[in-house]
Amino acid sequence: MPTDKPPSEMSVGQVARRAGVPVSTLHFYEAQGLIHSHRTAGNQRRFPRAVLRLIAIIRVAQKTGVPLAQIKDRLAKLPRHRPVTLAEWSALATDWRAELDERITLLARLRDQLTGCIGCGCLSVAECPLRNPGDSAAEEGPGARLFKTDPRGQNSSAGASSGLDLDIG
Ligand code: FES
Repeated sequence: MPTDKPPSEMSVGQVARRAGVPVSTLHFYEAQGLIHSHRTAGNQRRFPRAVLRLIAIIRVAQKTGVPLAQIKDRLAKLPRHRPVTLAEWSALATDWRAELDERITLLARLRDQLTGCIGCGCLSVAECPLRNPGDSAAEEGPGARLFKTDPRGQNSSAGASSGLDLDIG
């Protein structure tokens, strides 16, 4: 069990090792304004240890398809060079919740409707003749008309109303 207190600041290599990401990813995140460092007198990057939590959140958000611009927008409200307080994490969670809930809902619908007819015009699934006879769904407009993407219960052809970057049209 380690007894020494870990340093409050880390080099880019230390962050990369601990976070499990390449140094190039850290440089990319920094260039995108997602994380921030400062330079030592010797011009070496130093990151606050709290950057590890930010990187973990960025990685998870990216894996679930959240656009980098949205991640950046949300994280921009957090302090740059000190650990985020519980109240600040709480405010971020509240602020981001609606968008994340919408994404979860959409992904759940994608999962649940993946095997059924979604009214996209392909007529390639066994139940298409029942749910979309003769591609009658096309009369309602383009896209997958039976694919419910609007969490408020209305159909949307491309997720545009939800603001999500999932191209299902
Ligand atoms: S799945 Fe495309 S029209 Fe049925």
